[in-house]
Amino acid sequence: MTEKLKLPLLQNADLKNKIVLVRFDHNVIKKGKIQDSFRIDSTFATLFRIIAKGGKPILMTHIGRPKDKKNGQIITGSETSVQPVINYFKNKLQIDFMCPDLKPDDMYGIKNLQCNEMDNLVKDLKAGKIDGIYLPNTRWFAGEEAKDESADNFAKQLSSYADVYVNDAFGSWQAHASTFLVPKYLPSCAGLLMQKELLNLDMIYQPQRPFVAIVAGAKFDTKIDTLYALFDKVDYLVLGGVIYNAYLSAKYGFSIKGIAPEDMKCAEQFVSYTKKHPEKLIELPYIVESDTMEGKFEGQSRIHNIHNIKSGSELNFVLDVAPASFDDQHIVEIFNNAKLFFVNAVMGYTPYFYEGTVAMNTLIDKNKNARKLFGGGDTLQDFKTFLPGIYLNAIDDTSYYMFTGGGAVLNAIQQGSYLGLKPVAALAEKYQK
Ligand code: 3PG
Ligand code: MG
Repeated sequence: MTEKLKLPLLQNADLKNKIVLVRFDHNVIKKGKIQDSFRIDSTFATLFRIIAKGGKPILMTHIGRPKDKKNGQIITGSETSVQPVINYFKNKLQIDFMCPDLKPDDMYGIKNLQCNEMDNLVKDLKAGKIDGIYLPNTRWFAGEEAKDESADNFAKQLSSYADVYVNDAFGSWQAHASTFLVPKYLPSCAGLLMQKELLNLDMIYQPQRPFVAIVAGAKFDTKIDTLYALFDKVDYLVLGGVIYNAYLSAKYGFSIKGIAPEDMKCAEQFVSYTKKHPEKLIELPYIVESDTMEGKFEGQSRIHNIHNIKSGSELNFVLDVAPASFDDQHIVEIFNNAKLFFVNAVMGYTPYFYEGTVAMNTLIDKNKNARKLFGGGDTLQDFKTFLPGIYLNAIDDTSYYMFTGGGAVLNAIQQGSYLGLKPVAALAEKYQK
């Protein structure tokens, strides 16, 4: 299976007694606490394989966005520390990672990884005295996101301590020093999670048909390029959230409260694009209008059939699709016959409006023959929160796949090839047949 990937692979790397620098995406901390360990757990296989092959691991990840966009200051501290991840490894696997205590040189972060403490830790790692090293948040380093030579400098510093680099951070698709530049300086390969994610992505590039994609979101303009790419690929596209509201307004000429002008513009263009294949866009017929976003209250919310809303009407907030949409015969048939689903969708304004998402995921789950790909932090979070039973089964059901990176999947779909992800392209450059 994996030979499909034109990348150097972890399985083929010689790691015996080698120091292995591993980039994970353990970006799961909110306010200093692990929100959901799914992304960490998904990397265990890679870590086990490295250790089984005799490698000695130095791990790294980014956490959050510690850089102040206005003045470039990097704010280090407990909110974006990797310490909760280190504690998690200790608790769960009894592996004790040591973290060098590096202080920022100035407001722009840590300039130097190379120091006595790091030298000593690596010596201990080589000697088998410690289990592994976990570096501080990569975004605490001045070079990580830099646009000048300090990015290369940081990549060189990282490489100076290791023999091999493994990228297992599918979710970290941005081209930064730790994801994109290190392969310039070290033999490099893709980790096991990265491979799994890319093979599942490939199912979207070369879909089994019928292929149904469901995309929802709070903003149209951030997903518009992905939507164009998906529309060309799918047999059926279903929209939800503000994206769907904007689409409906643009298509049927009624207005819905709270849609930004830039989203309306995107929607108008998208509506005309869909006219080449109108049969592909499946409109969920029932939507939920609410007078308030503060909650779901008797008498303050109502269901509309989109075909009964007159052009020119002014609707209040539309905060969900009604579950009845997923009883509609045409839609049930499409969902039951699908061979592939891609879902990046929370249908309603949660926590109050979740019934659309529940009805949608319940209907998808009934199709046992389809491959079901889910991606996106909120998509998975709401799946887990509102359908815990189905989610728990789905985790171990091979007809499901949960991507660990939402932005990464959308970006990769838009690029049309996994090589459009720059860190993956950097690995591909090192591929030898
Ligand atoms: C994520 O959580 O979306 C990934 O870890 C990427 O994070 P970023 O969008 O801050 O680069
Ligand atoms: Mg993100």
